Amino acid sequence: MTGGAGFIGSHVSEAALEAGHEVMVVDDLSTGKIENLPPSAEFHPIDIRNRDAFREAALRFDPHAISHHAAQASVSSSVRDPVVDAEINVLGSLHVASVALECESRFVFSSTGGALYGEVPDGQVAAEGWAARPLSPYACSKASFELYLRAYGQASGLRYTILRYGNVYGPRQDPHGEAGVVAIFLRRLLSAQPIQVNARATEGDDGCVRDYVFVRDAVRANLAAFEGVLDGRTINIATGVGTSTRTLAERLVGLVDEPAVVNDGAFRAGDLQRSVLDPSVMISALGEPTPLEQGLSDTTEWFREEVQSS
Ligand SMILES: NC(=O)c1ccc[n+]([C@@H]2O[C@H](COP(=O)([O-])OP(=O)(O)OC[C@H]3O[C@@H](n4cnc5c(N)ncnc54)[C@H](O)[C@@H]3O)[C@@H](O)[C@H]2O)c1
Repeated sequence: MTGGAGFIGSHVSEAALEAGHEVMVVDDLSTGKIENLPPSAEFHPIDIRNRDAFREAALRFDPHAISHHAAQASVSSSVRDPVVDAEINVLGSLHVASVALECESRFVFSSTGGALYGEVPDGQVAAEGWAARPLSPYACSKASFELYLRAYGQASGLRYTILRYGNVYGPRQDPHGEAGVVAIFLRRLLSAQPIQVNARATEGDDGCVRDYVFVRDAVRANLAAFEGVLDGRTINIATGVGTSTRTLAERLVGLVDEPAVVNDGAFRAGDLQRSVLDPSVMISALGEPTPLEQGLSDTTEWFREEVQSS
């Protein structure tokens, strides 16, 4: 598991251990946290840009599957430093994929449906067959590596799965990631601080629309991919339901059940206005996604305990 000290990777690691697998985590702790690591996972503090160090640790462990979650995962950081973004997300990912081939292990790539398709017009959902229209260096690096993976996979025989996540939310989430708004809102609401709905176009509107998917659905997809059920496939991990920032704020205010101040903010340059993904391939392969109400309710309870204990 690369990126296993991060938000999604730590959940996948935990679930893989519960399913009876042995897990080795590789993470440079740049955004991940040591306390996210399941105690029974073997841990190596390695940067995936260091191919030799990664290769040595992986060959010794001899994995059945490599789930690749390590990434420069922030859109705004990718705009500030596109070179580092590409070094980690393209070259680092190639290191991991080439080592997966050498280990004869399956390779699961965490790509982004939330950023890769660009603007999704009102009333539509982006299906896997849509052309990639990356609008940030981060989306470019993820789309580029997908191209590499298909070409390299076909040429080399590497068995791979591409999971295109929507905006993943859940316990342990950090505010900086793609769907960080759930974590930001919950931390603030539970500490009696105001929250802000940034505009989709004009201040005071309902804000941008996103496809929020619960982390447990990303976990299910990874576990299925480890077993080979999704070999060679590219799959959106999403709900198909578009939720505006204002609707999200209202739901979270309801769940926290404390008086709340919700302010309006301006449009933030670089934010996609609308991103909603077609989940039909995922539903036929893995079943229905977790309903938003249930995922947000579980997430709120986790953040409530975290804020109370801090
Ligand atoms: N959170 C989302 O909504 C979302 C959506 C689409 C795709 N993704 C993808 O899912 C993956 C996990 O995202 P997340 O939200 O859990 O982010 P995260 O930042 O919590 O996890 C990424 C992990 O990778 C580690 N890492 C970063 N650079 C590294 C490097 N060079 N070498 C080794 N480890 C490194 C970090 O320390 C961190 O633990 C990423 O690939 C991200 O692009 C996330």
